This record gives sequence, structure tokens and C-alpha cells, in this order.
Amino acid sequence: MNQIEQEVLKKITPTEEYRKKLEQIINDLESSLNKEIEKRKLPVETMIVGSIAKDTYLMTNMDIDFFICFPTNFKKENIAKNALSIGRKLLIDTEESYAEHPYLRGYYKDYYVELVPCYKIEKASQKLSAVDRTPLHTEYVKNNVEEKQKKDVRLLKQFLRGINCYGAESQIQGFSGYLCEILIIYYKSFKNLLENAKNWKNGIKLSLKNGNHPNFYTPLVFIDPVDPERNVASALSKEKFKLFIKAAKEYLKKPDIKFFFPNPIKPWSISKIQERIKKEDNKYLGIIFNEPDIIDENLYPQIRKAEKSIKKACIEMDFNIYDTSFFIDKKNNDIYLIIKTDKEDLSGTKIHNGPPTDLKDNVEEFKQKWNNHEKIVKEPFEQNKKMKVEIKREYTNVKHYLDENISNLSLGKHLDKVIKKNYEIVEIDDLLNENLRIFWTEYLDNKYPWER
Ligand code: CTP
Ligand code: MG
Repeated sequence: MNQIEQEVLKKITPTEEYRKKLEQIINDLESSLNKEIEKRKLPVETMIVGSIAKDTYLMTNMDIDFFICFPTNFKKENIAKNALSIGRKLLIDTEESYAEHPYLRGYYKDYYVELVPCYKIEKASQKLSAVDRTPLHTEYVKNNVEEKQKKDVRLLKQFLRGINCYGAESQIQGFSGYLCEILIIYYKSFKNLLENAKNWKNGIKLSLKNGNHPNFYTPLVFIDPVDPERNVASALSKEKFKLFIKAAKEYLKKPDIKFFFPNPIKPWSISKIQERIKKEDNKYLGIIFNEPDIIDENLYPQIRKAEKSIKKACIEMDFNIYDTSFFIDKKNNDIYLIIKTDKEDLSGTKIHNGPPTDLKDNVEEFKQKWNNHEKIVKEPFEQNKKMKVEIKREYTNVKHYLDENISNLSLGKHLDKVIKKNYEIVEIDDLLNENLRIFWTEYLDNKYPWER
């Protein structure tokens, strides 16, 4: 390991002191948990899983994953109800989340805890819900990551954090902790993983075991060694896949601590942002609406869906959309969807193509349809052996179009609701405010995290 990597490890590897304190906290939590279980006379087992059990957690970023394992004859509603009520007694600032069934996240003495009910199973094929595999993952990693490879796992996690690719949650669409661990098992070391990742091509498939598995169509496929039916890299987006490959190349060329710990974005002044945008030959529009009261895991997919629907609808109306992006203003609970489009309006009319002139019947039909049509500005005519007609456009201005139609588009269940209540479509002057400085700096500067 080079000097940079050693320096990184010093920052992220838990110290003896830290481990002791954590152990104490976990013991306390476990005994309170067991008391609650006894009170309810539940035939369950509690278990620490995830990166603490595997000793691959980062001192600077960790959560305690506590699982309550129920016998498989318990009903789903029952396990959720019990786990939630126990969690609410032990944790503070709790938030209910949903995987296949509800679980609870919250704090215990300043430590972030996930309390998850699952079924106790021996093999993944017996699973009743997705989280049932987690104890099997924990076992697999404990048995297959060598002591010295824990350093490689930690380096990889921090490297991914530095380039904003760590985490399978929908906000990040990156690499989960478990994916990091099996990548290190596969490639042996952090260095060797990066060397290989340089040559990864879209669609690369990895597996630690022989045998059949279904086809998956994600940029990276890694068959779960405890469950051949599952692709561990299913959440990884194409953008994050490419970003990781780029970072691997650049880091190997010129290692730098900034890959692991990038400088924060230094927000440009409003006038600098203004000047940069003025130079562009484009126009930006922002659609602003309230943030619905749902968890991020549901919010991000809906915003991405909304971006797609809006882009598609605009393109169908002949507007050029060069780019869409979004910003969530958590302070004011506002969402900004920002689209980059043409400065100029579309022409008032357009040419609509008809059939080739030698298809006499179709030509007749075409003429009948368009002669005296209300939209028509010029009778059907022949050009290059094709029938054509010039008609009026319904909308020439994209803002006008969106103003009148956005609440009829399908943007996602919760976004549809908030947009039906209220939204605003604004031009650039209303998008150049303090809250959006970081957004615009990142968007316009277009630098990789390690280049900042
Ligand atoms: N898990 C999974 N797939 C995900 C997220 C989680 O299989 N997309 C399972 C894994 O078995 C993982 C466990 O849930 O080990 C706990 O999740 P998490 O805390 O996110 O991962 P850790 O491995 O604990 O890594 P860390 O907390 O250090 O990020
Ligand atoms: Mg964890």
C-alpha cells in the first residue's frame, strides 16, 4: 500500500478505543433489546449483521445493523408490528422505512441503528423476504474476507465515498458495502480491483461460484455468492459505473488523497454563474414544487421518473431538451427540476409528412384528411415524391406548453399530487438564488470530485 492509502487507513480504521466504546454500546443495546423481547415472549434471536459484524465498517461512517430473526411460521404483519414497537421503545428520532416489510431506523446514544425484522433461514432459497439473506451475507464475508483484506475493503469503501459512488440507495445508485466486500474477495486487493476495473466494459459479469443464474442487464453484474438468483450490483447506475472506471484510471495514473477525501465544492458567486450561463446558447427553465413528505428511497426514483416524462413530452412537441437535472432544497422543502432547452421559440408552423406520391389511395385519404383542416396553413403539396402539408403548431414556447400541460403528465404518485396542488415554472433569473449556488457550480463547472 502506498503512503496515501496508509494515511487514509489511519483516518477510517476504528481505533482500539473506538472499538471498545462501540462494543459497550452494542452490549447495552442488545440487553435492552432482549428485555423487550422477553416482555413480549417472542421466540426470536437477535443478531448484529452488516459491516460491524464483518469488521469492515468505517470509523467515520457507520451504522449498527441489528436484526431480529423470527421463525418462518410467524406472519409478516406480526414480525413488522413487533419489530416496530420494540424499536420505538429503544431508539429516538425514529423513521419507519420499507423494504419488503417495514423496519425502523433511529438513534441509540448518538449511534445510527437499523432495526430490521427477518426470518431465520439456512439457505437463500428459503427466503421469504429480501433481508433474510443478510445474515447469510454476513457469514459469507466473515468466512471469505481475509484479515488483511479488511484494509482493502475499507479503502475501497472510502474511495467510493470520495467519488460519491458508495451506497446502493436510490440517492446514490452506487456500490453497496456487500458489493465492495465481494469485489475484494474476487480481485484479492484494492489495487488489483482498480487495475481490472480500468478495462471493465458495460455489461461485465462476475461470479464467485460456478453454476447457472438468470440473465441481468445492468452495467455490472455480480452474482450473489449466497443466492444465484440475485445480482448484487443491481442498483448501480451507468453513470456511477463509468465514474468508478474513470476514477480507477486516474487514481492509478496519479494517486492522490483527494480521491478519498475530495475538497468541498466552492460555490461560485451568483454573478459568475450568471456570466457563464449568458455565454451559453441555451435557455434554462425550472419547475418548482413542494417536496412530498416521503422517504428519500421513494422520492429519488419519482424525481427521475418525472425528469424522463417531462423530457419525453417536450420532445413529442418538437422542443429540443438537451439535459434535465434536479435539486432538492431540503431547507425549504422545494424541488427544482431544471431543463436545458433552446433559447428561441419554435416556428409557428411545421411541415407534416404524408405518404409517397405513388400510393394513390393513401394520397387521396391524406388530402381528404387535411383539406380544410382547422390547423392547416397550406394545402397538401408534393415534394421529393412525398405528400406534405404545412400546419400550425399548438405550442411554440416550451414554458407555455409546460404551464398548460404539466399537471396532466404522469410524474410519479406523490409528485403528481403535489404538482396538482401547486407548482411554478420559472426562467433563469429565478433560478439564480443562494440556495442553488452549489447546484449551479457543480453543474456548470463539470469537474470530477478529485479535481476540485
Ligand atoms: N444489503 C444488501 N443489499 C443492499 C443493502 C443492504 O444485500 N442494497 C444487506 C447486506 O447484507 C448488508 C446489510 O444489508 O451487509 C446491511 O446493509 P448496510 O448497512 O447498507 O451495509 P453494510 O455491509 O453494513 O456496510 P456499511 O454499513 O459499512 O455501509
Ligand atoms: Mg451497515
